[in-house]
Amino acid sequence: MNLLLMGLPGAGKGTQAEQLIKKYDIPHISTGDMFRAAIKDGTQLGKRAKEYMDAGELVPDEVTIGVVRERLSKDDCSKGFLLDGFPRTTAQAEALEQILADLGRSINHVLYINVDQSELMARLTGRRICRDCGSTYHMIYNPTKVDGECDKCNGELYQRADDNEETVGTRLKVNIDQQQPLLDFYQEKGTLRNVEGNQKIDVVFKEIEDILIVPTLI
Ligand code: AP5
Ligand code: MG
Ligand code: ZN
Repeated sequence: MNLLLMGLPGAGKGTQAEQLIKKYDIPHISTGDMFRAAIKDGTQLGKRAKEYMDAGELVPDEVTIGVVRERLSKDDCSKGFLLDGFPRTTAQAEALEQILADLGRSINHVLYINVDQSELMARLTGRRICRDCGSTYHMIYNPTKVDGECDKCNGELYQRADDNEETVGTRLKVNIDQQQPLLDFYQEKGTLRNVEGNQKIDVVFKEIEDILIVPTLI
């Protein structure tokens, strides 16, 4: 199963991905996660990406496309993959077509998680993440049992550097500006599936499961 998860910042891509990759046993390819790992490791890529991420802007296409090309070429992607947060520009979508054609693959479903824009600021500023296992929580919508401590591994929770109000504002604007042409692109290809994201996390997951049960001709 080759899947692509789309949605504005805070739509729930990472949250749904956590469950999807377990159920379908496929690697989770999140460009945001890959850039954050590179920043943590202090690599050249991390240094380049950091200035854009801190400002809430998109990392340049040539950098992002190169990272995804390399990742999709790895052996573990031959059983399928879940792309989260890529593509985000038309140039990235076109590059992805070429990368997949070179690998002899294609996307089965593009899942677009649609959430009211008025909800997204609250979702992002209240998000907390486990430092050890990466699980995502929300202070109100999905709280941990013990304050500040991961339910799964007791790890410490932290807030992402770009989850402050000012940067979230820029991220939302930048992504809203880019989104429509991408949705049109996949609508025309016939792979776009709309997911109602203004529902509880488990209800959204169930809706995605129901979409994925239907076999594709692609
Ligand atoms: P990235 O890490 O991808 O961030 P994003 O797109 O802004 O999306 P988020 O990860 O913030 O949101 P999400 O949809 O995953 O929501 P989540 O599930 O966590 O990218 C970061 C940066 O990297 C970009 O700004 C850019 O600089 C760069 N970058 C990345 N990809 C790039 C690309 N392709 N090109 C160029 N630059 C790129 O949920 C959010 C919160 O809501 C959580 O607290 C969660 O618990 C809660 N929640 C989730 N679902 C629900 C629900 N159904 N109900 C209530 N609460 C919910
Ligand atoms: Mg995410
Ligand atoms: Zn944890």
